[in-house]
Amino acid sequence: MTSSEQWLALSVALLCFYAGAECKRNFKCPSGCTCTKETIICVGTAQIPRTIPNEINSLSMVNGSIAEITEGMFSLMPSLQLLSLANNKMRFLPRDLFFDLDSLLELDLRGNSFQCICENKWLMTWLKNTNATVSDVFCAGPNDMKGKRLNDLPIPPGECISTDFVRHQSIPVQAMSADIFSFKEDIYIALAAPNTNSCVIMEWDHIEMNFRKFDNITGRDIHSLQVDGPTGTQ
Ligand SMILES: *[C@@H]1O[C@H](CO)[C@@H](O)[C@H](O)[C@H]1NC(C)=O
Ligand SMILES: *[C@@H]1O[C@H](CO)[C@@H](O)[C@H](O)[C@H]1NC(C)=O
Ligand SMILES: *[C@@H]1O[C@H](CO)[C@@H](O)[C@H](O)[C@H]1NC(C)=O
Repeated sequence: MTSSEQWLALSVALLCFYAGAECKRNFKCPSGCTCTKETIICVGTAQIPRTIPNEINSLSMVNGSIAEITEGMFSLMPSLQLLSLANNKMRFLPRDLFFDLDSLLELDLRGNSFQCICENKWLMTWLKNTNATVSDVFCAGPNDMKGKRLNDLPIPPGECISTDFVRHQSIPVQAMSADIFSFKEDIYIALAAPNTNSCVIMEWDHIEMNFRKFDNITGRDIHSLQVDGPTGTQ
């Protein structure tokens, strides 16, 4: 190898190292799995392979003893169309696990041990609303829920209230802070976005049940607000 070739090999290796799952070259089909460019099928494994190429199309990890899935596991796999986690030992799935799977057509979660309690409520709601084809999934517990289908469980409003945060809406603003306030019986949120020298105000829409854009105060206004406002500290 010439030194420039060595340098190239080293940078490729470093790229692979830093890009993690994104690096196809570095991806080795894990033992117990069969891989093609767009498909990975693992049978009988206890763990999900650590690096899965992001451009994967079809991922099956079946008939194993997978009990846990890392939060956000599938969030970088926008092309995933087919996902099977059938016949494993999963009782709970991390909240919003499937939210970013925009291409998903088919999901198979059969043969797991899902507990139909509040921690899985997001899953029940997601199953009910998804456009993907989902095989029937049944509750394995608690006793009074056993055998019921997850996707037609009615969870009455008021049940499962918790202080955990649930993703409700994404707002494309990079904010330093978010303050909620009410004014004349309406609810607003003020997002300080110093990178665009602005402060974005959004108003709660009682019909859409979302925040909608209300105002965008730009840098100059913020400055004069700080100078004149009663809470200005400078
Ligand atoms: C997984 O197990 C089921 C039931 O035992 C069997 O029908 C199926 O063929 C197995 N799947 C694979 C990919 O081995
Ligand atoms: C399902 O498809 C409909 C119609 O294309 C769309 O309006 C809706 O947002 C989709 N739902 C989800 C959860 O993607
Ligand atoms: C608010 O205004 C700033 C400055 O004009 C702009 O850069 C920013 O994108 C706007 N934010 C929104 C959410 O409209």
